[in-house]
Amino acid sequence: MAFTAEKEALVVDSWNAIKADAAELGLKFFLRIFEITPSASGLFPFLRDTSVPLEKNPKLKRHAMSVFAMTCEAAVQLRKLGRVIVKETTIKHLGATHAKACITSEHFELMRYALLETIREAVPYMWSPKMRNAWAESYDQLVEAIKKEMRPVA
Ligand code: HEM
Repeated sequence: MAFTAEKEALVVDSWNAIKADAAELGLKFFLRIFEITPSASGLFPFLRDTSVPLEKNPKLKRHAMSVFAMTCEAAVQLRKLGRVIVKETTIKHLGATHAKACITSEHFELMRYALLETIREAVPYMWSPKMRNAWAESYDQLVEAIKKEMRPVA
């Protein structure tokens, strides 16, 4: 099914409404992930052996921001081009980084759930099943693009 201008607007408009609070939302997003699956924090090298509290960790916020912003960008591309295109060097790097960090389909599923819940809570006045599906479709297509570049690392 085509990714329509309506779907693109559902993602872009909600992202524009919340992006000023992205740092705080990013923290909520990750706390939700770690609440559901505490062991997931062990996947991030910068969270191991550090005395910096989660909420002060700039790398965690940066990762959250990448997920939000790249998912939003995926929506724009899906409407414009019918598929997600990420610069070749970037997508190869993302594939290799996530393969090396042993990120599995279950981790991507967990993040998907936390992402949708975080957006839903941030824009309750805009939220609808259509908005949920537009974010989910954009995220899924972005993850597919990353997974294609995830090769087992020796
Ligand atoms: C690294 C984006 C999903 C765990 C990264 C980086 C980006 C990114 C931009 C930094 C790459 C670099 O500069 O080296 C994304 C996007 C995702 C996604 C767009 C989904 C659409 C996930 C998931 C997990 C995860 C589901 C685990 C729950 C990691 C880890 C690193 C990483 C462990 C390496 C961190 C480090 O070594 O400092 N990701 N990520 N990512 N990501 Fe993701």
